[in-house]
Amino acid sequence: MKRYFLLIFIVLFIVSCSLIKHNSPSLIVRPTSTSSLKFLALKSGIEIGAAVALQPLREDETYREVLAREFNTLIPENAMKFDAIHPERYQYKFKGADEIVDFAEKNNMKVFGHTLLWHIALPKWLKEGDFTRNELMGILRDHIYTVVGRYKGKIVAWDAVNEAIARDGSLLDSIWLRKIGPEYLDLVFQWAHEADPNARLFFNEFSAEGLSSKSDGLYAIVSSMVQRGIPITGIGLQMHKSLGNPPNVQQVAKNIKRFADLGLEVQITEMDVKTGDGKGSLSQKMDQQAKMYGDILHICLSFSNCKTFMLWGFTDRYSWINSITGTQDGPLIFDISYQPKKSYDALASVLNNSK
Ligand code: G3I
Repeated sequence: MKRYFLLIFIVLFIVSCSLIKHNSPSLIVRPTSTSSLKFLALKSGIEIGAAVALQPLREDETYREVLAREFNTLIPENAMKFDAIHPERYQYKFKGADEIVDFAEKNNMKVFGHTLLWHIALPKWLKEGDFTRNELMGILRDHIYTVVGRYKGKIVAWDAVNEAIARDGSLLDSIWLRKIGPEYLDLVFQWAHEADPNARLFFNEFSAEGLSSKSDGLYAIVSSMVQRGIPITGIGLQMHKSLGNPPNVQQVAKNIKRFADLGLEVQITEMDVKTGDGKGSLSQKMDQQAKMYGDILHICLSFSNCKTFMLWGFTDRYSWINSITGTQDGPLIFDISYQPKKSYDALASVLNNSK
């Protein structure tokens, strides 16, 4: 009799071990290269990418592995901003940017550049300098020619201008507008095009995804640029969303269409979906987030002028949002242990079902 119970115990033990093994989160089978987003994107040809931070790229092997496996495009989160790449008036620092470009080339990934002109992330010498209009134009032209020229043929697209429109649709106050005037927008695109005629050049904005006074302002300014023959390729919709501030998918579609009617590309450039303002269980929040990611990728794929779908990071472990909120948020498609989330599955499903 004792032998009988012992035998049953051994059988139950073996069965339970095998069940734990298959359900343990740390042992979820990682997407293989034949089921990665990069592989699934081959079908539609979409540029699927993520913003890259230097510190984890240098120090975290799993970060590098997942980045190379899942994406065909990348963009430096900070390494090519004015303050990082041009820290002193007569000094450029390309080390970090070069590391990112080299990583992309080694892993068969396209590189986008971010950003030639912004009113944030400016170095002290520029913010505090008292330059004449001509001096500032000379500084900006030299910056663009030097940076774009260095990566000519390596960087396929630039966020030429980043965030220059105010909420009411007018031009945002900045050192560039005050000192040079509104024509600074044209000059950035003209100089970037002269420095690399083959690079796609974008006007990148946040909170301009739907139909609003801000997106109307962007539309008006960009339409005028097109009419004047300024070499602008398209616009970037950053898509920084949250569970409490979801995208209005119908409006996003109408917005993309009106820029398409101008003959312009529209990129989704910085998508992430903050969860801190969400309601419901963790599983319900992950379902809500997954729907947003899937909806936006589906909309992008339904427009021939939307060729790029970029995330602002890819793992919750390194999102910029954590440093803003001071807490661990879950805005991206891999969790802090690099396990794919429901949002990852939503993107994979949309890519897999694309034409
Ligand atoms: O590199 C310095 C480090 O030396 C220093 O010790 C540390 C503390 O002061 O700061 C580090 O620089 C920080 C940098 O990120 C790199 O980590 C800056 O302070 C910090 O302001 C900067 O934040 C970035 C922010 O843009 C401003 O440039 C975020 O990481 C980045 O995700 C965010 O990205 C922007 C896009 O460029 C444009 N669209 C919106 C998006 C989110 O704000």
